[in-house]
Amino acid sequence: MKKHKWGILAPGKMSAKFTRGIKLLDNAELYAVGSRDLNRAKDFAEEHGFRKYYGSYEELVEDPDLEIVYVASPHSFHKEHTLLCLQHGKHVICEKVFAINSREAEAMIGEAVKQNLFLMEAIWPPFQPFYKKASEILESGELGKIIHLNGYFSFIPPYDPADRKFNLALGGGSLLDIGIYPVIDVLTFMGIPDDIKAVASFSPTGSEESLSAILQYNNNRDATIYSSFKTNYGIGCDILCEKGNMTVSRGRDMNQRVILNMHGKEKEEFVFSPPAMGYHSEAEEVMKCLDEKRTESTVVPLSFSLNLIKTLDRIRKAAGIFFPEKD
Ligand SMILES: NC(=O)c1ccc[n+]([C@@H]2O[C@H](COP(=O)([O-])OP(=O)(O)OC[C@H]3O[C@@H](n4cnc5c(N)ncnc54)[C@H](OP(=O)(O)O)[C@@H]3O)[C@@H](O)[C@H]2O)c1
Repeated sequence: MKKHKWGILAPGKMSAKFTRGIKLLDNAELYAVGSRDLNRAKDFAEEHGFRKYYGSYEELVEDPDLEIVYVASPHSFHKEHTLLCLQHGKHVICEKVFAINSREAEAMIGEAVKQNLFLMEAIWPPFQPFYKKASEILESGELGKIIHLNGYFSFIPPYDPADRKFNLALGGGSLLDIGIYPVIDVLTFMGIPDDIKAVASFSPTGSEESLSAILQYNNNRDATIYSSFKTNYGIGCDILCEKGNMTVSRGRDMNQRVILNMHGKEKEEFVFSPPAMGYHSEAEEVMKCLDEKRTESTVVPLSFSLNLIKTLDRIRKAAGIFFPEKD
């Protein structure tokens, strides 16, 4: 069995969670960590069992034996750091949101194609059992057609103007950080909307902190999405159909739930709790693609990431959300 050598670029909170996922996979080797600070790289490497560590991202990608890099810097650096990895011959899985706007995402995809290297956005839901269950139920036809989807993700983080959630220079705002999940729900279950209306409210830094949008389809269907750092409403979506409703949700602990509520029938509930919050499935997919000599995932193809960022661009435009350094 070929063992793939993994590297972590930007060892923050999410990198620790993703590493716990990689650790579950026999064909993965925790190889190297790169941080802007050598001590942070060393601490992370020692805590999680990586062989090597570097005090800059450049040194990390110059390691000739490193094969796959997980990019988990703040959103506004995803393009720069993904290009850095690809230009040094490394395969990349880059955290969501893939880029600040579709122009950046197109540059990343163009570079991966040019270099003939693997690239995927780390989009969690499509790999998870609750999403597979929900898709199965919808495809079976038992609920009939979808009429409306209501997607939401909100929680109240401490307000810190320097934190990536509120700092505009780091891509701050609820839409790109958490509102992306209801948008993924809409695109997965209903497709690309024909028209979008949206409103937002803003934090003292100028970053968006609450977003509501209506996504309309020409065939009399629509969806609403809501994301916010000002309320604590949870994570999920309600899918309202001709013959019943379905809730597809997860807790902050990532425990997953599908509740099927057919008209005139008892509710049915399906609960899933994969190990390592299910993050190992994304790493598994990267290595499966590489073993099969593929540069793109069929679970999260680059076309999905492009549709996603283009939809996020449209929502931002409708709500008046701009990143002065990028747009
Ligand atoms: N898929 C998911 O479920 C999920 C969940 C949470 C977050 N995420 C994504 O993961 C990414 C990172 O989120 P996080 O919560 O891990 O953030 P975080 O804890 O703040 O970590 C980000 C890391 O980026 C590096 N970095 C590079 N330039 C930076 C700068 N100018 N300012 C601050 N940090 C900088 C830092 O590492 P060094 O300085 O040590 O290099 C820092 O530790 C985001 O894009 C986020 O959307 C995904």
